[in-house]
Amino acid sequence: MQYMTTAEIREKYLAYFQEKGCKLVPSSSLIPDDPSLLLTSAGMVQFKPYFLQQKQLEAPYIGTTSVQKCVRTNDIDIIGTTGRHLSFFEMLGNFSFGEYFKEEMCAWAYDFSVNVLGLPPERLYFTVFEDDDETIEIWKNLGVPDDHISRLGEDDNFWRAGPTGPCGPCSEIYFDQGPDFGCGSPDCAPGCDCDRFLEFWNCVFTQYDGQEDGTLAPLPKKNIDTGMGLERMAAIMQGVQSNYETDVLRSLVAVGERLSGRTYGEDAEVDLALRIIADHSRSVTFMIADGILPGNEGRGYVLRRLLRRAIMKAQLIGIEGHFLNEYVDEIVRLMGDVYPEIVENRELERGLIMAEEDRFGATLRQGQAYLEEALGKLAGDTLSGEEAFTLHDTYGFPVEVTQEIAEGRGVKVDMEGFERSMAAQRERARAAGAKDAEAAWSTYGGVYADLLRELGPTAFIGYDATAAETRVVALVRDGERVDGLAAGETGEALLAATPFYAEMGGEVGDTGLMENGAGRVAVLDTRAPEAGLFVHAVRVDEGALAVGDTVVARVDANRRAAIERNHTATHILHAALRRVLGDHVKQAGSYVGPDRLRFDFTHFEACTAEQLAEVEREANDHIMAAVPTTIYETSLEEARAAGITGLFGEKYGEVVRVVEAGEASRELCGGCHVGNTAEIGFLKITSESSVGANVRRIEAVTSFGALAYVNKVEAELKETAAILRVPPFDVSERVAADQKVLKDFRTKAKRAKEMVGGDVFNELLAQVQMAPAGYPVIIARTEVRDGGQLRNLWDVLKSRMGAPGAIVVAGVKDGKPLLLAAGTDEAVAAGFDAGALIKAMGPAVQGGGGGKPTMAQAGGKNAEGIDDALEIARNMVL
Ligand code: ALA
Repeated sequence: MQYMTTAEIREKYLAYFQEKGCKLVPSSSLIPDDPSLLLTSAGMVQFKPYFLQQKQLEAPYIGTTSVQKCVRTNDIDIIGTTGRHLSFFEMLGNFSFGEYFKEEMCAWAYDFSVNVLGLPPERLYFTVFEDDDETIEIWKNLGVPDDHISRLGEDDNFWRAGPTGPCGPCSEIYFDQGPDFGCGSPDCAPGCDCDRFLEFWNCVFTQYDGQEDGTLAPLPKKNIDTGMGLERMAAIMQGVQSNYETDVLRSLVAVGERLSGRTYGEDAEVDLALRIIADHSRSVTFMIADGILPGNEGRGYVLRRLLRRAIMKAQLIGIEGHFLNEYVDEIVRLMGDVYPEIVENRELERGLIMAEEDRFGATLRQGQAYLEEALGKLAGDTLSGEEAFTLHDTYGFPVEVTQEIAEGRGVKVDMEGFERSMAAQRERARAAGAKDAEAAWSTYGGVYADLLRELGPTAFIGYDATAAETRVVALVRDGERVDGLAAGETGEALLAATPFYAEMGGEVGDTGLMENGAGRVAVLDTRAPEAGLFVHAVRVDEGALAVGDTVVARVDANRRAAIERNHTATHILHAALRRVLGDHVKQAGSYVGPDRLRFDFTHFEACTAEQLAEVEREANDHIMAAVPTTIYETSLEEARAAGITGLFGEKYGEVVRVVEAGEASRELCGGCHVGNTAEIGFLKITSESSVGANVRRIEAVTSFGALAYVNKVEAELKETAAILRVPPFDVSERVAADQKVLKDFRTKAKRAKEMVGGDVFNELLAQVQMAPAGYPVIIARTEVRDGGQLRNLWDVLKSRMGAPGAIVVAGVKDGKPLLLAAGTDEAVAAGFDAGALIKAMGPAVQGGGGGKPTMAQAGGKNAEGIDDALEIARNMVL
């Protein structure tokens, strides 16, 4: 056999199947466009709609071929312990959607293995599914001897991507690495766990669609799905014992050697760590490049777990501090030409990894100490669920990592207890008001999938028109298909073609109306529960709606126009953020509604006020330059070559839609946009906040939304100015001055109180408030012995207040109320009027009195009215 590099094998495979008539399709994102899967784990994932006949491949192709980046973590704990398991790997594949089948596939697989790769036929072994005699015959006819073919059961030779979806029996090809690799057992054969027989190519005869209930529905056509592990084939072609010794992975092992100063092949524990870091670093780099962020759930958790596992292993062999970025650099060098996304997102990869290293590094040691202590004082052989939960919750130890360490000491982890603690925490979070995403939209199992199969994707005509005559093709009520909806009923309507945009890519769904003669139907929302299937949530307000009806569908055009302005503004904001903050800024989510927009992006610290001002300025420059938008379709490859920004977490078909608002803003996007940036009018950032470790959120408003916002701010300012009786733009100065006076008072009062505790003056001084007119005032109830004393009180308070102020006090003497108001000349100049106050307060105590603006008194009959009287004063003064 001739030595081949990984790159050569990749090229030869793709060239071979292109020559056979397969179309070369780029690898899809690691984030599958498929809710049943967390991560892309096989080449077939992006072709599911073709297997299900929801999409057709155009002539003259007989199928597709690809090299797919894959992540699988179901066997994470054996990664590194064998030479053939990886969390990240590349899968070479070729696919047929009802064109070629078994006969051709087996012949090509044999031809490629023997004649292109030059594998010796005597070292090839073939397995087939239990009773698949047909495939046995095919292999035999190709010259494979009987004793190189064996039958295996469902576990080995029936392939499924997940619990549901396209699947089928398969036939696998093995390479005999020789008895030296084997376990030596007389039963050792393909399918054995040892390293002797290496499975390198799986050919699946995809004939079924696995249903939710576990049954297999035959697919309309017979398909082919194959997968060849590129790293495994590289090991064979490079004559090495393990994937980690092939050209690409060995270079990554070498990074670890350099950083740790250790040599691969000398110590089993060190080798294991070097292999694990080499493997995990690729998963981590590629996952981040595809828009996955470390988190506590779903794929974010998978990423975090891989990252943390790599960090722990690194520490074990003496690698400290930031180190994974060195791997990123090497991965970019080795694989960047095939996967440009890892080059484009390099700064993000490095930044996110370093942030995670910092975050985890800080708690790692404390967590380890906690775990050591827990293990040390353990009575039995099981670590409690609560302790595992504390490690998870406080120290960020993924429970699998805790398990791994514990198992190393022969200790189990009480997983049930751990799950209980997790459930309790989730419950607390729910009680605290976290909302269940998507709970509002009913999902009724298979009805939408069936509709998509039957009707195909909905024709969306709403980019150009907001109204159209169209036809109702299906109606759904409570998850069941119905023929009609009567007046007053709500349900879901599907149209032959629709101008209503369905909620997608952050943009909200359109609302509006449908009319059929006498009928009027409100469209409350539009969603796409299956990719490409537009479903309108409707309420029949008048008449009725029936399948087959011709309707005029009318989008609420004003609302749509507002959405379009916000959507284009989101792109402009994105471009401005990249310019001001750097290229690590990537969209991590968005909301585009008629009233506002929200943009989440990767960034490692809070934005400063200056940065935000600059972003806002840039964005408005762009808007006011009145740049016409251009929207066109192109191929993914060309878009990439042109450096167009792709949104996070979305998978694109080969034809992509580009929305361009000038050179500075070019994004792949399926949403609705303005024709010219000037339509946006004005963009105003309303807030910047954090939403998770490395993600920031900007909220903004545009056009009429911005006007409403500015008006609201202005009204608020005017109201405050009126209360303070200053011009609006003096508000802050005035408040600052008042705050200062108030602070002085509080300090003085506090000090005085400390000196003479319980003193009536101090009690009153503690109640000083700042009148909006700008003088300190005490309005309070106090003890009274006679009228004279109230006046004395004022003399003392006046001197102790420290600044020219006023008082309004009331008390009871011999069951009768007494009131006193007094103020300094300064307070009077600012509007204080003791006489007017006493006059106004008198009736509340059934009494009366009077005086000058600087001093007035009253007596009365009703002591119960004192609080009311003071309230009157407060209303007048404060
Ligand atoms: N989809 C098949 C696999 O992943 C080829 O093994």
